[in-house]
Amino acid sequence: MEKADFILKAQYVLHMDETADAAGKSLLIEDGAVAVRGDKIVDAGPIGDIEKKYSASEIIGGSGQLKAVLPGFINTHTHAPMVYLRGIADDLPLKEWLEKHIWPIESKWLGPEFIHDATELACLEMLKGGTTTYNDMYFYENHAAPAVKKTGMRAVLGAGILDFPTRVAQTRDEYFERAQELVNEFLNDELITPAIAPHALYTCGPEGQKRAARMAEKYDIPIHIHLSETKWETVEIEKLYGKRPVKFLDELGLLSDRVIAAHCVWLDDEEIEILAKRHTGVSHCVESNLKLVSGFAPVAKMINAGVKVTFGTDGAASNNDLDLLGEMGTASKLHKALSGDPASLDAKTTVKMATIWAAEALGLGNRTGSIRKGKAADLIMLDLDKPHLTPVYNIFSHIAYAAKPSDVEHVMVNGRMVVKGGQIVTADEKEILEKARAWGKKIKESV
Ligand code: NI
Repeated sequence: MEKADFILKAQYVLHMDETADAAGKSLLIEDGAVAVRGDKIVDAGPIGDIEKKYSASEIIGGSGQLKAVLPGFINTHTHAPMVYLRGIADDLPLKEWLEKHIWPIESKWLGPEFIHDATELACLEMLKGGTTTYNDMYFYENHAAPAVKKTGMRAVLGAGILDFPTRVAQTRDEYFERAQELVNEFLNDELITPAIAPHALYTCGPEGQKRAARMAEKYDIPIHIHLSETKWETVEIEKLYGKRPVKFLDELGLLSDRVIAAHCVWLDDEEIEILAKRHTGVSHCVESNLKLVSGFAPVAKMINAGVKVTFGTDGAASNNDLDLLGEMGTASKLHKALSGDPASLDAKTTVKMATIWAAEALGLGNRTGSIRKGKAADLIMLDLDKPHLTPVYNIFSHIAYAAKPSDVEHVMVNGRMVVKGGQIVTADEKEILEKARAWGKKIKESV
């Protein structure tokens, strides 16, 4: 018998391994098990086979329990610390929301302590909902990192770059210095991937974009941008540079598989082809786009053209939660209606978008996103013994259309149990919530 640290057993193991899928094999192991040793998955297969081969110090699931195991979800676009601004201003036009509410509060409160404390709350929410990796764009990310590592999450942390001075930096050089510090500290970290985040074409022009691309190339790190989020943006960029945003970035040579572009709502057919050709990943933020009235991204068209479309929640102030299961359900239903095709964003595709496609879009496809020998043990177990999940005909359908964050029972990241029985075990939930309430009181008194 080989030694393992954990064996996870479930009626349904959704391994999401695309090589098997491409070979026409199932993405599902019924009555399956996953063996974990150290930080890695060492094996996955039918329970009988795994039990014959491995003994483990801890066995999770099994003996008649109704469970599903799958790779942890990956949120490909958020601004995690904005959980502290959730619900402070809603139901407003985007410009007024940003200029009169969000930006003034950020310019008053943003700092290392805010970022650290708010990131803890965001990680708590995401982990309890089955998200094991997130892709962030914000500031002071080196102060977010300790909170991410403490809670035990995996994250791509993007240092924001702007053309104008803020509390964070006075000049472009200074923004890049912040980014350089983040890269220096976390370049080869196991859980944190540093990234560069030139915010958007209308806030970080061609000079900043080019410099960000050079930096990303030099360190082999991802680039995280907002792209074609609103109609206003496409009109503005066309006015300034004579081209639509995707076309303009491409002509500057800045689109590649290194880029994860959030939103991509306003695209013409040529731009969809460009994104597919450059293997640029797209983070679709359906609930943010709906709430801020940004428009409807052509997701079905992008997927048909071969674009890797994934899910992002965007910041909690424009969603208002960090629930990836919610994004999956909303997006797959919306795009069926929009495309007039009920087969659009079918259940299996929707689960791929939230797992393996997301890992690939972030350049983490060799590390996470599917259950495969040698990959990091980023796994979640769902409890299926619930009214809204009974009976089970098609487990992909239940995950895409019916499951809720509260169904997530256990969460493991890099081989470490971080949520057990629905409770975080790496941090003190009560303390995180108390800190959030204290911050909320201070912020409320200041507006
Ligand atoms: Ni955003």
